[in-house]
Amino acid sequence: MKRALVTGGAGFIGSQVACALLDRGLHVEIIDNLFTGRLENVPDQAILHEIDIRDNKVNQVFEEGKYDVMFHLAAQMDVRKSVINPAFDAEANILGGINLLQACKNHSVAKVVFASTGGAIYGEQEKFPASEEHPQNPRSPYGISKLAFEKYLQFYHCEYGLQYVSLRYANVYGPRQRGDGEAGVVAIFVSRILDGRKAVIYGDGKQTRDFVFVDDVVKANLQAMDYDKCGIFNVGTGKETDISTLFNYIRQISGSVQKQIHKPGLPGEQRRSVIDSTLIKNTLGWYPTYSLKKGLEKTVQYFRNCTSSKEVDNY
Ligand SMILES: NC(=O)c1ccc[n+]([C@@H]2O[C@H](COP(=O)([O-])OP(=O)(O)OC[C@H]3O[C@@H](n4cnc5c(N)ncnc54)[C@H](O)[C@@H]3O)[C@@H](O)[C@H]2O)c1
Repeated sequence: MKRALVTGGAGFIGSQVACALLDRGLHVEIIDNLFTGRLENVPDQAILHEIDIRDNKVNQVFEEGKYDVMFHLAAQMDVRKSVINPAFDAEANILGGINLLQACKNHSVAKVVFASTGGAIYGEQEKFPASEEHPQNPRSPYGISKLAFEKYLQFYHCEYGLQYVSLRYANVYGPRQRGDGEAGVVAIFVSRILDGRKAVIYGDGKQTRDFVFVDDVVKANLQAMDYDKCGIFNVGTGKETDISTLFNYIRQISGSVQKQIHKPGLPGEQRRSVIDSTLIKNTLGWYPTYSLKKGLEKTVQYFRNCTSSKEVDNY
């Protein structure tokens, strides 16, 4: 039986990757410090190691785990926090990542599948949608740390033969995303609108993003595991949606009459972001199967169930 480690496996995306791997019959273990992750996200059949990826204990976990593959999703993933505290971002995303890569090298892990970012790695785009070849000029320490980790992956591959696939996700949304943080505009809007609280649009609402549903992202992770070469792939829809339109869709699906409320734009926020996923389609056969409307309907349904039952996992 193949053995997988999922870092960040108590989080929004990582926990759903862990579930999909269990469904595929893999042995699954998780490293998560529960910083933004939730215990109730961890699947029953998975073993949780509640530690920080920067911790020396990581080595012991790898020694006993004998993993074939690591899915690396644990991260400080709040762009605004990374601007306020770049050192904290780099500690988790670069130093924590290197700690894991050293353990991969020392304990003969064959492959790493990495959660990179297509939303932050290219910076203010020159072309729309951006392919993987687009210049990478991240505007935030978060984007810089993700780019740096991709370079470390290349180093560990060249030097030690570690295989890797880096998946540059667009803006991921769906069930289990936290609506109480600063990041994850869909979850923030949906949870606030359903609770009857005000959802704020920063700026004119014309800033755009590429929204990809979490099930499609999970599928990309599994296809990346099966790929027998290294690669860097965008994982998005190629469709640009502005925040104002997103708000209106969510309002309509939720049956709310809440009006748009605008506050001044946030410093350093990217204006337009949309990525081209032709490469992963041609190489791995991956393509997004959820339209934004279908994905939002599933997301609203999930949050509705959570609000009514206060259970997190009943969609
Ligand atoms: N959500 C998105 O739109 C998006 C887009 C691009 C890339 N990503 C990447 O996908 C990955 C998962 O993101 P998510 O949206 O599921 O976020 P999340 O916050 O739900 O998941 C991150 C998980 O990592 C854990 N974690 C954080 N720091 C840790 C540390 N130092 N040691 C151990 N565990 C730690 C958290 O507790 C959490 O469970 C991240 O690497 C993120 O950068 C997400």
